[in-house]
Amino acid sequence: MTDQPHPPEVDIPVKPTSASRTTLSHIMTGNDTNLLGTVHGGVIMKLVDDAAGAVAGRHSGGPAVTASMDEMVFLEPVRVGDLVHVRAQVNWTGRSSMEVGVRVMAERWNESTPAQQVGSAYLVFAAVDEDGKPRRVPQVAPETERDKRRYQEAQIRRTHRLARRRAIKELREQRAAEGIDD
Ligand SMILES: CC(C)(COP(=O)(O)OP(=O)(O)OC[C@H]1O[C@@H](n2cnc3c(N)ncnc32)[C@H](O)[C@@H]1OP(=O)(O)O)[C@@H](O)C(=O)NCCC(=O)NCCS
Repeated sequence: MTDQPHPPEVDIPVKPTSASRTTLSHIMTGNDTNLLGTVHGGVIMKLVDDAAGAVAGRHSGGPAVTASMDEMVFLEPVRVGDLVHVRAQVNWTGRSSMEVGVRVMAERWNESTPAQQVGSAYLVFAAVDEDGKPRRVPQVAPETERDKRRYQEAQIRRTHRLARRRAIKELREQRAAEGIDD
């Protein structure tokens, strides 16, 4: 996984962020709880992956698989009866990968207050062909100032992901070369 500059994708028209932005809404039930009686984090993660996958599929115009999920943050507990809205959009595109940003909002079933942010996450999806091999995606065209900020922040995360992977790979290779077997 190298990070060479991507050549302009002349034959794939760019797509605006709004073309694939998606919100998935779900009412939490008793089946979604953990032992404390609040909603299990894994239930929210599934919704996040579902919403992000829908966005990645829409943006890339075909199948896309989750390559990574990072910075999943839970800010507040979600409770049974809450109406959860999972909002996702493409923040950044590479050659075959897309970073999707997800914000999780909850409307409390017993309060007439505006929806509250309860979580967020960043996922990388790779668009794949019928053989499961990465295929090119349209470049995303950020539209608003917020989209542009998210694009720039996603580039920072991308740089850090690649650097971390490279550093860990090099460390493992060095240890193997020294004959250390763990
Ligand atoms: C994701 C996958 C297609 C990558 O395939 P690969 O042969 O490693 O291909 P590449 O190294 O060219 O990676 C393809 C793109 O994904 C990105 N990518 C791959 N692994 C990544 C990771 N762990 N984190 C972030 N991005 C990643 C690469 O940077 C590359 O992006 P670019 O084309 O925009 O530069 C492959 O690892 C796969 O199929 N994984 C399983 C996915 C899956 O089944 N998910 C559901 C889990 S049940």
